[in-house]
Amino acid sequence: MRWSPGDYLRFAGARARPALDLLARLPDTGPPVIWDLGCGTGEITLELARRRPGATVSGLDTSPEMLAAARESDRDGRVRWVEGDIAAWRPGEPPGLVFSNAALHWLDGHDALFPSLAGSLAPGGALAVQMPRNSDEPTHTVLEEVASRPRWQGRVAHLTGRRPVAEPAAYYDLLAPSCTTVDVWETVYLQRLEGVDPVARWVEGAAARPYLACLGDDGPAFLAEYAAAVRPHYPPRADGTTLLPFRRLFLIATR
Ligand SMILES: C[S@@+](CC[C@H](N)C(=O)[O-])C[C@H]1O[C@@H](n2cnc3c(N)ncnc32)[C@H](O)[C@@H]1O
Repeated sequence: MRWSPGDYLRFAGARARPALDLLARLPDTGPPVIWDLGCGTGEITLELARRRPGATVSGLDTSPEMLAAARESDRDGRVRWVEGDIAAWRPGEPPGLVFSNAALHWLDGHDALFPSLAGSLAPGGALAVQMPRNSDEPTHTVLEEVASRPRWQGRVAHLTGRRPVAEPAAYYDLLAPSCTTVDVWETVYLQRLEGVDPVARWVEGAAARPYLACLGDDGPAFLAEYAAAVRPHYPPRADGTTLLPFRRLFLIATR
């Protein structure tokens, strides 16, 4: 699947805010070895490095495009950028902090993944995660509805029906047996978007990526259908702004 740093960063402020909210709650952790899993274009990884001077910080991502953008913004070579899959990730040295913002919802099998990530931590270390949880909101259900239309279903219907992120309490149950503290919470951000069809532009940068990857040159036609179908769900306010409620699940577990 191909990521587009430009499409993703079109709403950089709104996408960064939950990461900063998660960073604000990080505890003092164990050894100064930090991994950012699914680091993307690396802004948050670099912010982590700024906040933890002296720590060895690594950013892992499967996307060469996102990693190229990350390397570009890391002028001082502060972070070690690693191409690799979170599902196969094994740290050499047990980390004091495993951080992941807006990435783990791309992986299935959370029942095994979360205990495994917590199990990788050094004693006293922390796992800090934020994931969007909007599969049943119009942003996502309309994407699935358009993908199921006769014109598209042969190529993308197999992508529908994923529900990777569980109820918040499920993460408590997964982590409590091996962690000393587990803090789970949710925030619904009322995101203020501007421009024409901003919800479609927002979805184009992330949730629609697998669909666009399958559709190649037909991606713009699919997105145009999606934009028309999702528009009535998010009517502009009197001042032209579009409000997009967006739910995000946070957790911090310490070992
Ligand atoms: C929505 S972006 C978030 C990027 C960054 N964490 C941020 O907050 O700006 C999701 C990132 O997760 C990466 N990703 C998705 N699945 C992955 C996997 N299995 N292993 C590693 N990276 C993955 C994508 O390539 C993408 O860069």
